[in-house]
Amino acid sequence: MSQNTSSAVMQQRSEPHDSLDDFPTQPWATRALCEHVLAGCYLRNKTAWEPACNRGHMSAPLMEYFGAVWASDIHDYGAPGSFQHDFLFPVMPLSEDPDWIISNPPFRLAEQFIAKGREIATEGVAMIVRTSFLEGVGRFENLFSKNPPSIVAQFSERVPMVKGRLTATGSTATSYCWLVWIKGVTNTKLVWIPPCRKKLERAEDYAAYREVAA
Ligand SMILES: C[S@@+](CC[C@H](N)C(=O)[O-])C[C@H]1O[C@@H](n2cnc3c(N)ncnc32)[C@H](O)[C@@H]1O
Repeated sequence: MSQNTSSAVMQQRSEPHDSLDDFPTQPWATRALCEHVLAGCYLRNKTAWEPACNRGHMSAPLMEYFGAVWASDIHDYGAPGSFQHDFLFPVMPLSEDPDWIISNPPFRLAEQFIAKGREIATEGVAMIVRTSFLEGVGRFENLFSKNPPSIVAQFSERVPMVKGRLTATGSTATSYCWLVWIKGVTNTKLVWIPPCRKKLERAEDYAAYREVAA
């Protein structure tokens, strides 16, 4: 039997069950959410909480758009201004409910992160997930049939994520989309995020994580 060993297929994201799922998001993908999906939501007057902030590669671009951003993670990766907190722990660490909860959640806990986010956020929840997250009978029955997202925003470009570090150059076989739940909006709209990496990516996004040229 032949095996498909193309580099894209080999770079599919799969993790052990107990993994923290340490896969930082390229900052341009968060700017794409703010510019192409949440445009018109007056983010400058709003607050956001990134509850699985990792090294801060999502909370930092969120700060470019929101009035205030909290950032936390169950593990301390040293993101500036972040605090350690298990998002699923039943204690609210913030002094007020945020308008938005936005994250790239650990894959195996994504449904719980979405449910908890929807309980807390006063305006909306946005989670970047693998597009394949949309399928599955269990997920349909537990989540999508009861609480469909208001927006499914599919990336037209790939968003490379690799374990343990931000990559500027990596490739991926995994497709991603943003799922957005806006309070009171129960009809799902499918939109495409147009090619925007070139416009939204900045050299300094990767400055502290310069990769050795392959
Ligand atoms: C895919 S990474 C997130 C990357 C980050 N949001 C970003 O976009 O760069 C998943 C993160 O979830 C964190 N995590 C796992 N379980 C958690 C929990 N119960 N509460 C908070 N963070 C958790 C991991 O430590 C890891 O940093």
